[in-house]
Amino acid sequence: MTHKQSTRAQAAKARARRRGMTLKTAVAVLFGAVTLGAGVWLFAPPRAGFASADEIAHGSAVYAENCASCHGANLEGQPNWQTPGPNGRYPAPPHDRNGHTWHHSDQVLAQIIYYGTAAMVGNGYESDMPGFSSTLSEADILAVLAFIKSTWPEREAAFQRQVTQQN
Ligand code: HEC
Repeated sequence: MTHKQSTRAQAAKARARRRGMTLKTAVAVLFGAVTLGAGVWLFAPPRAGFASADEIAHGSAVYAENCASCHGANLEGQPNWQTPGPNGRYPAPPHDRNGHTWHHSDQVLAQIIYYGTAAMVGNGYESDMPGFSSTLSEADILAVLAFIKSTWPEREAAFQRQVTQQN
């Protein structure tokens, strides 16, 4: 091998190494982004209106166990839910037609349930609505949402479908 050839070989090796590094870095960055973004990313596909009876039944059980204590067994919310309590935080709103859950898209609702209201609002906002990312699976969250939606009259359901489509 001439000196020139070996220099060239070394340069090629270095390039290959750099490319390898770049690929590894790219994979690491991508993995990080996917992990961080998982919540948002997993909920991205809207699933409005296609819940099976099984999913709704499962969602009803998830609701009774995890949500009813605050939002009410019949989705009626807490009394005076539009006025902050002595701690400055809002009581739990109803999820029926009297509340404003149906004003929000599927994506926003799934994220509120996953992350909690404080994380969604940001800026130090304090809220009693906890995030369920560590206690409920994504399937549980989608099921409870499907259950809540299944109780809405057609007018509210149609409005919310449109908001979801425009999200
Ligand atoms: C410890 C009480 C508590 C529990 C348990 C709870 N929530 Fe909430 N939730 C709240 C409160 C309080 C708010 C209003 C938060 C605010 O405005 O700061 C809220 C707000 C929400 C909202 C936003 C409604 C809107 O119109 O903006 C959704 C959706 C929601 N909760 C769903 C659920 C679901 C689903 C569960 C069960 C998996 C659940 N919550 C369990 C207290 C609770």
